[in-house]
Amino acid sequence: MNKTDDEILGKAYDSKLMKRLLKYVKPYKKYLVFAILMNVVVAGLGPLRPVLIKIAVDKSIAHKDLHSLTIITVILFSTLVLQAIIQYVLTYFTQLMGQKIIFDLRVEVFSHVQKLALKFFDKTPIGRIVTRVTNDIEALNELFASGIVMVFSDVFIIVWIFIFMFSMSFDLALITIAVLPILIYATFLFRKKVRDIYRDVRFYLARLNSYMQEHITGISIIQLFNKQKSEISNFEKINADHKKANIDSIFYYAVFFPTVEILSSLAIALIIWYGGGKIIQGSITIGVLFAFIQFTEMFFRPIRDLSEKYNIMQTAMASSERIFKLLDNETIISNPSEPKKLDKLRGEIEFRNVSFAYNSGEYVLKNVSFKMEPGQSIAIVGATGAGKTSIINLLSRFYEIQEGSILIDGVDIKDISKQDLRKIMSVVLQDVYLFSGSIKTNISLNSNDITEEEIREAALVVGADKFIMEMPQQYNEEVKEKGATLSVGQKQLISFSRALANDPQILILDEATSSIDTKTEILIQDAIKKLLMGRTSIIIAHRLSTIQSADKIIVMHKGEIREIGTHQELLAKRGIYYKLYQLQYKDQEISIPIQNRRDLNVN
Ligand code: CTP
Ligand code: MG
Repeated sequence: MNKTDDEILGKAYDSKLMKRLLKYVKPYKKYLVFAILMNVVVAGLGPLRPVLIKIAVDKSIAHKDLHSLTIITVILFSTLVLQAIIQYVLTYFTQLMGQKIIFDLRVEVFSHVQKLALKFFDKTPIGRIVTRVTNDIEALNELFASGIVMVFSDVFIIVWIFIFMFSMSFDLALITIAVLPILIYATFLFRKKVRDIYRDVRFYLARLNSYMQEHITGISIIQLFNKQKSEISNFEKINADHKKANIDSIFYYAVFFPTVEILSSLAIALIIWYGGGKIIQGSITIGVLFAFIQFTEMFFRPIRDLSEKYNIMQTAMASSERIFKLLDNETIISNPSEPKKLDKLRGEIEFRNVSFAYNSGEYVLKNVSFKMEPGQSIAIVGATGAGKTSIINLLSRFYEIQEGSILIDGVDIKDISKQDLRKIMSVVLQDVYLFSGSIKTNISLNSNDITEEEIREAALVVGADKFIMEMPQQYNEEVKEKGATLSVGQKQLISFSRALANDPQILILDEATSSIDTKTEILIQDAIKKLLMGRTSIIIAHRLSTIQSADKIIVMHKGEIREIGTHQELLAKRGIYYKLYQLQYKDQEISIPIQNRRDLNVN
């Protein structure tokens, strides 16, 4: 089995981890202290009952004293009520504390993840991050809400029972705990077996989950290629492994619990035999025997529970280790200590000898230099994988460059705060991403600076308003996750509106390659033209008309700039651009509107 972070189970107690965890408890220390104090009290109440029963049997019943019997019954009943009330308060406060702690922790993890650089996400599956925020933090809740406090409670119950037992009858107490070594050994064995199996269950569950997730995401491909049957049989295999691991664990549970029962019965039998003998001899009273039978029954439960608490501790330790590992991840692109302000942005962009690799050593951009004047528009073209999107990623400082510098208005972008940098530019990415919410919130991204009029205005300019107004809820129309209910073109127009609503000085557009119908194509072309007006813009272009209207065209090839010039200049050169252009022209002939085709000037 190939184990990942998720299946590793470590120690049940790690002082370093615990120390760090307790920092989260600190703000709620009073809850914890209160809970533990309450526990000392409530732990004594249960073991007190056999003592009361002993008194009832020996004093009241033996002496036919109805009055004292009534009093003891009332006291007994009161302890039960008191115990119930304290238990309620205790449960409430420990759960409250647990929820408050995991609330804080979730916020911390989420905000940390939001800060991480894209490099981290390139390497970490989303499912794993989600597991941190959900399952792992939930495991900690269990630790705080029941684990820590309950361990105290169990220990106190055992202590109280010991105190009562030994003060009542020393040798009977010894007999009761005679079975203890066997019980402890059985518990130890059980815990070890269950722990191993539990690890397997986790492993198979993780596989089950990721298989489900991946195959639901790719459901259309599976159906298109008629792969349902084989996918189901694959799934059955994983599911069967998972089932087997669970059944194995059931086996141990099925053996362990009856064993505990047998041991407890054995202890009671011993007590009756030995205690009975002592009653006949007249050295103890019947009440003592009664009390001991109950002590014995009471005594096994917390010991059994402690083994369960051990599992909670262990899971929580492993979870906290994973959470802290994520929190300690420093893949962050830092802000400059003294950021420079760009007053009166002109919108000049310069790449100066930029070299960049996503993975060290594998350069995807090599010595890239170009400069654009304010208001100019540049188109970047090149084969797939040439490094076009990478250029944009660098300009918005999603990644750090290895060599060279990128300047805006002559200021290195490393000296500008990331927030300022991203405020001055709008980027329309190749894959449009819509969030669940409404069309309105998808355009404004919940920004308070953007008014409803501005949203509408932006949509009008790029031509999205028309189809939005045709929807039943118009701008309030619900957008499902990833915008599944919208067409590709519609999604693109919404993302254009989003870019425009921010009214950026610099506009960056990674044109999607997906082919759309001619009507939408013209619509989008038109939208792009309006987007560019009066802004410095970089466009990764796939469409002919976009390319031609650019002030300058940069031709990328395997991470290098190979040609720069206007459309006409580059055609005349008969180099890479000329070849690319010819290829594209052939591909796009059918979808190019007539007037554009006349512009092409190639025969
Ligand atoms: N790459 C990478 N890690 C990423 C993104 C890209 O290693 N997170 C690599 C790709 O494998 C590719 C190179 O970087 O070899 C350039 O990628 P990119 O700039 O995205 O290429 P584009 O020119 O944008 O390609 P396309 O036209 O297909 O969008
Ligand atoms: Mg790209």
